[in-house]
Amino acid sequence: MIRIRFSAVILCVTFAFSAQAGDMDAMTANCNGCHGDDGVSQWDDVPTIAGLPQFSQADALYLYRDGERPCVESDYRQGDTSRAATSMCDVVADMDDDTIEEIADHYSAMPFVAAEQDFDADLAAAGQAIHESECDRCHSDGGANPDDEASILAGQWMGYMRASFEQYASGERWQDDKMAEKLEQLSADDIEALVHYYGSQQ
Ligand code: HEC
Ligand code: HEC
Repeated sequence: MIRIRFSAVILCVTFAFSAQAGDMDAMTANCNGCHGDDGVSQWDDVPTIAGLPQFSQADALYLYRDGERPCVESDYRQGDTSRAATSMCDVVADMDDDTIEEIADHYSAMPFVAAEQDFDADLAAAGQAIHESECDRCHSDGGANPDDEASILAGQWMGYMRASFEQYASGERWQDDKMAEKLEQLSADDIEALVHYYGSQQ
């Protein structure tokens, strides 16, 4: 991920030329049409982006732009819902690095709000045990710690999490090699238990 660290350095140099406040408002209004007000999603298949670490958000947007992460076509959920469905790949297709860094700054500064959703307590307990032995090293505090720069799992929408695990398993979504070793060892039941554990943290 040297490329991404490097662009953070460029950001410091070129910050003065970054997008105007008005552009940013229009852009975030577009994002919020799917991700919810202030990036807090109300929809099971759309992740909350508020409060995710800046690095994870920028990384996700670079991966979409570079075609290293699959994009689901999605309808707008609020605001002008007659807008044509689009995907994350289209959203970031023409975005320059400075804009990506800035928009990631914007949403990482917003408070993360855990999704209110139904979960199975027994599955969640089984998931917690797996998490603590296999995942907490990188996703500490049950996956709630933004300082890990490994996204936020605790309180994220379960439908989105399931889809993410499928994309990792199929190799369509880029992942850390050491995480891949861990995920490969998990059964479908283990994954479902982990999804309930993350969803149980509200
Ligand atoms: C038309 C709906 C739509 C719009 C508009 C949209 N998104 Fe998304 N976004 C999604 C969906 C659905 C996903 C998850 C599925 C996928 O990966 O395609 C997602 C995923 C993401 C992720 C990955 C989160 C993670 O945890 O890895 C980030 C970051 C993100 N969007 C940021 C943005 C930003 C910033 C904007 C505005 C510039 C935006 N999105 C506009 C629907 C949308
Ligand atoms: C070696 C460190 C490491 C280990 C171990 C690890 N992860 Fe990760 N994980 C990461 C990083 C880094 C990211 C962010 C990837 C990115 O920026 O695209 C991530 C992302 C994720 C995501 C995507 C979150 C999102 O917002 O879409 C899920 C789900 C996930 N990990 C689950 C797990 C589970 C479950 C385990 C244990 C079985 C695990 N990880 C073990 C480092 C790790």
